[in-house]
Amino acid sequence: MKKTNRKEFIKASALLGFGAMTLGVNASKLEIDNLGTSNKIFPIDPKDGKFELPPLGYDFNALEPHIDAQTMEIHYTKHHQAYINKLNDAISKEPGLKGRSLEDLLTNNSSLPESVRSAVRNHGGGHWNHSFFWKSMKTGTSMGKDFEKAVLGSFESVAAFKASFEKLATGVFGSGWAWVIMQNGLLKIVTTPNQDNPILDAGKNAPKVLLGIDVWEHAYYLKHKNKRGDYVSSFWNVVNWDEIEGLLK
Ligand SMILES: [Fe+2]
Repeated sequence: MKKTNRKEFIKASALLGFGAMTLGVNASKLEIDNLGTSNKIFPIDPKDGKFELPPLGYDFNALEPHIDAQTMEIHYTKHHQAYINKLNDAISKEPGLKGRSLEDLLTNNSSLPESVRSAVRNHGGGHWNHSFFWKSMKTGTSMGKDFEKAVLGSFESVAAFKASFEKLATGVFGSGWAWVIMQNGLLKIVTTPNQDNPILDAGKNAPKVLLGIDVWEHAYYLKHKNKRGDYVSSFWNVVNWDEIEGLLK
């Protein structure tokens, strides 16, 4: 694909919303390796089989001054925990869902019983997204060679890639996320509303998710108030490039 076409595709993706790109896919079992994630980051309580809050992996103040400790503590212990609690509540109402992996519940969401489908989509998505988000952040790392190569294969420059990401993430209407994904050999930036994500209903064709930024107000309001753009531009200081490089292997 020529670079101009890639630009148009990315622009169209942003205008349409990522959901338009994932419609109509019904898959059986998920190929977890394709996601670049594993169930290790979605721990289960062995006593009751319920999802648990995964370890954050660092202190609440580890991302200061870019993301403040109070935001991290509330975001992790309150918001993320609430998604897990409500996901567990939903699953308890449909015993047939117990034991299925979180990726399975999301990539095949449209096939779930209607009574819990939305709850699993919203709260399971919230659990997946935040678990991924925590691992996406660390201070002091630099963009790796493999990711830079992927960027230059899909964008005119690293600066153009960053500018596109910032523009799309800042421009999400209401609450949602912006993502960097690898799909069909190309790096793409997409956005999703609420707690949707790029693997939702993607079945076995789920793209490899490399990076995500939470642009709900609860992710930045204490520090940046209504200036989402400031939060997004400062996000580069906490991107865990080592994690991304590992996901590309
Ligand atoms: Fe959040």
